[in-house]
Amino acid sequence: MLPGSPSLPLDSRERADRDYSRQYNDDFVSRWDELIDWDKRAAGEGTFFSDLLLKAGACRILDASTGSGFHAVQLHKAGFDVTACDGSRTMVERAKANFNSRGLRIPLVCRDWRDLERAQLGTFDAVLCLGSSLCHVFDSQDRIDVLKRFRSLLRPGGVLLIDQRNFHAILEGHFSSSGRYYYCGKTARVTVGELHESLCEFVYTFAEGVTYRLRVFPILPERLRTEMFLSGFGELKRFGDFRHVYDPLRADFIIHQARA
Ligand SMILES: C[S@@+](CC[C@H](N)C(=O)[O-])C[C@H]1O[C@@H](n2cnc3c(N)ncnc32)[C@H](O)[C@@H]1O
Repeated sequence: MLPGSPSLPLDSRERADRDYSRQYNDDFVSRWDELIDWDKRAAGEGTFFSDLLLKAGACRILDASTGSGFHAVQLHKAGFDVTACDGSRTMVERAKANFNSRGLRIPLVCRDWRDLERAQLGTFDAVLCLGSSLCHVFDSQDRIDVLKRFRSLLRPGGVLLIDQRNFHAILEGHFSSSGRYYYCGKTARVTVGELHESLCEFVYTFAEGVTYRLRVFPILPERLRTEMFLSGFGELKRFGDFRHVYDPLRADFIIHQARA
């Protein structure tokens, strides 16, 4: 049986691991932007995503795991027609506050990926699932179902962009959170707790000693590539920390690009 495949009934710990909306509780979400540091994150990724989207001829974008809205804001400011979506009510509230405080009117939907059709969002040129979000789905078949849903929202030839922390390096004992990309804030230390081929626990320790934990499935890059392929995507490309050429044991994040 492949790790992450549906098998025995889940115990309560495993059920809690899969309940992402409980992991993103009010306290943790209230500190999410501190964890990101929007200015440093914007500097770290530069125009990587907008360049890829422009090159792909994309205009209408779904930011499917918007969290507190970082990419929705960056891409809206860059001129794209962005819809933001997330399944966590607390994250959506945070994103709404971020849009309002910047005077931005960005359509925002609270919806789990398993229930995206009912939101009747229409068709997009690109779907983004960024910030290492898909790893909240533990089962391979469930991820394939989510990827198929993303595909059904794309026009033929539309682009999917998904990134993940570099779980290959992490499982090889090379966890690094360089602080240069994605989660750039300096007030929290990120370490890895429980770790094996079916679980990766990130521990966020803030200056005053408060800790939060995210428990996710460590999707290996090759595995995600296979799942994207099985979901009907083609023209798969990979980047490490926004570069074509990268060290697979040193990159913090792996970004996957594919076409519907
Ligand atoms: C690690 S956060 C990333 C947030 C944001 N993209 C960023 O980079 O800051 C993962 C996000 O994915 C969302 N998420 C996880 N599983 C989801 C699901 N099944 N449906 C909808 N959203 C989900 C969570 O609520 C959370 O906001």
